[in-house]
Amino acid sequence: MKRSRKICVIGLGYIGLPTASLLATKGFKVVGVDVNEEAVRLINDGKIHIVEPDLDILVKSAVNSGNLSASLKPEEADFFIIAVPTPFKDGHQPDLSYVEAATEAIIPYLSEGNLVVLESTSPVGTTDMIHSRILKARKELEGRIFSAHCPERVLPGHILRELVDNDRIIGGVDKASTEKAVELYSSFVNGSIFPTNAKTAELTKLVENSYRDVNIAFANELSMICYDLDINVWEVIEFANKHPRVNILKPGPGVGGHCIAVDPWFVVHASPGLSRLIKTAREVNDSKPVHVIHRIKEKAARFKEPCIACLGLSYKANIDDLRESPAVEIVERLSDEKVGRLLVVEPHIEALPKALLKRENVELTDFASAFSKADIIALLVDHTDFFKADREKLKEKVVIDTRGIWA
Ligand SMILES: NC(=O)c1ccc[n+]([C@@H]2O[C@H](COP(=O)([O-])OP(=O)(O)OC[C@H]3O[C@@H](n4cnc5c(N)ncnc54)[C@H](O)[C@@H]3O)[C@@H](O)[C@H]2O)c1
Repeated sequence: MKRSRKICVIGLGYIGLPTASLLATKGFKVVGVDVNEEAVRLINDGKIHIVEPDLDILVKSAVNSGNLSASLKPEEADFFIIAVPTPFKDGHQPDLSYVEAATEAIIPYLSEGNLVVLESTSPVGTTDMIHSRILKARKELEGRIFSAHCPERVLPGHILRELVDNDRIIGGVDKASTEKAVELYSSFVNGSIFPTNAKTAELTKLVENSYRDVNIAFANELSMICYDLDINVWEVIEFANKHPRVNILKPGPGVGGHCIAVDPWFVVHASPGLSRLIKTAREVNDSKPVHVIHRIKEKAARFKEPCIACLGLSYKANIDDLRESPAVEIVERLSDEKVGRLLVVEPHIEALPKALLKRENVELTDFASAFSKADIIALLVDHTDFFKADREKLKEKVVIDTRGIWA
């Protein structure tokens, strides 16, 4: 594929920005589009507004090469990649408003031969919906424009490597769209590419995260059963996993982030009568923070003025992303219920999130200070920084280790 071709990437977040920068360093002319003015300004200065290892270096070199620029508006291009959020709204209904807005924004800039790729994790039928919207607005492009879904599977913290190395599932609204999209991704992906149709690609991505969610729910349910029976869950899992065909995951404080905690609902929404296990798993995982809160309150009741160190706020280890984080929910509810003084330690952020700001009983502090002052240590995220806690000193504290790092 000729590298002088132009790509317009809509949405410059955790997926769009690394993708746009990578493509720019591979020789494509890339214009990244975002509605966030501050993000656009920072990127044009060669800086970043999110935390991801080595992304700052990549963006800087992409901008300096002259191949990447950011803008508030799309431009004419050969390829359009949509990487905007796909959250859910009330009642766990998919919220496609960002995808719809992104589609409307690019419609005036499309021309014959263009390929539109939806990378956002989307309910089944979304790629067809985008394609129909385009053709409704631009009837002259019928049969002359291509649309495909290429779901993103990267792991935050490893995005730059996985963007290139992961296998890809690519499904077009028709055969020609699939072929065009496979050709584009083959130019920068080292992993294998599996061509299919749009709906299969959409459901495959949703199923991957539903599978993860169901397995985590099993571990979380087990942790609650073990607590009820006064049995050490970490031991049970360790011993059960000695079985050659058993591999139970580690329980946690709940499931967060905007992928595993969201995507299974798109399957439930599409097929409510048949997705009973997937729905129950979501409910089990959503109930786990309440269980953790109950355990902390039980321990706090032993102290006159309990001081609780809450270690970690992000939805998983070693990242700064707090979206849908069960740890934030736990701290927020402990604060609402005035369970005690809450010393929050989150090495990846500089200020508390909005939900926890201006609360008299919540303070962001460092590990050493929280550790020395707290009566109770509630480990909510298994950040590498927390592994180094002094085991002898831990014995002097009441410890609730939701990730089993000190088990
Ligand atoms: N982050 C991940 O690890 C990950 C992994 C796999 C899949 N995904 C999926 O990728 C998609 C994007 O996720 P993300 O993590 O990059 O989200 P994000 O919130 O980090 O970034 C989305 C960006 O899109 C911008 N945006 C919103 N509406 C826009 C519009 N109409 N036009 C232009 N820009 C717009 C936002 O300002 C934001 O900068 C989602 O569907 C998500 O589920 C994310």
